[in-house]
Amino acid sequence: MSHVALAETLRRHGQDHLWQFADQLSVADRAALERQIAGIDFAQVAELFRHGVTNESHAELAARAAAPPAFRLSGQGNPFTVAEARRAGETALAAGQVGAVLVAGGQGTRLGFDHPKGMYPIGPVSNATLFQILIEKLVATGLRYGVRIPLYLMTSPATHEETLAYLDANQRFGLAAEDLIVFCQGTMPAVDAQSGRLLLEAPGRLFASPDGHGGMLAALDKSQALADMRRRQLRQLFYFQIDNPLVEVCDPVFVGYHMLAGSELSTQVVAKQQATERVGNVVSVDGQVRIIEYSDLPADIAAQQNADGSLKLWAGNIAVHVFDVAFLERVAADDHSLPFHVARKAVPYLNERGELITPSEPNAIKFERFIFDLLPLAKQAIVMEIDGRRVFAPVKNAPGSKTDSPETVRRQMLDLYREWLAAAGANVGAAAVEISPRFALDATELASKIAPGTTFATDTYLTCDHYSPTESPSCCTR
Ligand code: UTP
Repeated sequence: MSHVALAETLRRHGQDHLWQFADQLSVADRAALERQIAGIDFAQVAELFRHGVTNESHAELAARAAAPPAFRLSGQGNPFTVAEARRAGETALAAGQVGAVLVAGGQGTRLGFDHPKGMYPIGPVSNATLFQILIEKLVATGLRYGVRIPLYLMTSPATHEETLAYLDANQRFGLAAEDLIVFCQGTMPAVDAQSGRLLLEAPGRLFASPDGHGGMLAALDKSQALADMRRRQLRQLFYFQIDNPLVEVCDPVFVGYHMLAGSELSTQVVAKQQATERVGNVVSVDGQVRIIEYSDLPADIAAQQNADGSLKLWAGNIAVHVFDVAFLERVAADDHSLPFHVARKAVPYLNERGELITPSEPNAIKFERFIFDLLPLAKQAIVMEIDGRRVFAPVKNAPGSKTDSPETVRRQMLDLYREWLAAAGANVGAAAVEISPRFALDATELASKIAPGTTFATDTYLTCDHYSPTESPSCCTR
């Protein structure tokens, strides 16, 4: 774009201030700013700003909301048994039809960790990072079914380089290089909440942040990852997030339910304990499954009960999905498949005098896409209830926080392993015992490797020197 065209574009959109400090910039910095500006769809941002400040009401949607079609833990009303679902899922896994996508492009602001969240040490005994635990789960699952499961890993400009270097330095935790496909999501600028003007974070740089986990759709397409899935003849894609070390990666029962139900997009949910719990509500409105955020669900509707006293809108989203690859291809073809959400945030910015202002209150609007907004577009979408205690422990908040903190997550991990060990007949006493996915993926596998009566007197990390489950396991004690 020539300077004249650039100035004209900025003027037309009332964004001249972005070029205000250009004279002070080096040639390289000015060129970088120019590139950044050229990449902005100003008309789209203006439209989002206008739309975002009108008060959208979810009350009407919520009034028509019913419980979604579901596979319940109780088994009640389920059209297929767990055994049938497991068989279908295992068959698909063994046939190499299942891939996995892990979204790890978020900035992890609440955790307050200076690196990609995947590098956070969460193993209660081992200090293994979230990346290590999740990737080892994937590798071990592949070994169990005699296949290599490709991992599509989403980063953002904020996490990309460091993630690549970290995984490389750790030999991708056993994942073959050709089975790790890293793709980077896009960004969106933030605007001043009053004026709609974009913010500068430095004289030569616009403030921009990752465009939400929904950015996955466009990024999968643009990076050719979708084409890669097609080449590998993948049919299902297991979706998970970087912050939950307890997730059952490629859970065969979940994959199986998804397939047997003919669903294009399935979602794991927990049964909410309270009406106003801070989870997205998975509901059905006019026959379409969708999510209504807890903040958008009126209290009286959230409190509605069934005759037996249970919550009518019971299903809380835990952000674990299975996608049909063909569905992803279909929706990726339309850039409007996913709407943008707006969020008011405190964003540091340069004022007109070039001073960096760090507001303590929200001053800006950020735009993000959410992957679960694909739900209403999916045919036969269903949810599967899981036991949150066993498979859901998200690391969201900073150490010391009461909920979803590193401490609460480690405690939950140790409680689960203790349960597995007890079922295997081991004596744990007060010791902290952590089980690596390389040693055992579940209670049944653990029981096949631990002799009843085994005693753990000190804190122990049970791991395996070799990835092959046919090798004899070894324990390493710390
Ligand atoms: P969260 O919504 O918890 O956001 O992301 P976050 O960035 O990790 O943390 P906060 O809100 O700044 O404290 C849920 C999942 O979605 C991914 C995250 O990496 C995490 O796995 N995500 C989120 C992305 O991949 N890209 C995004 O733009 C946002």
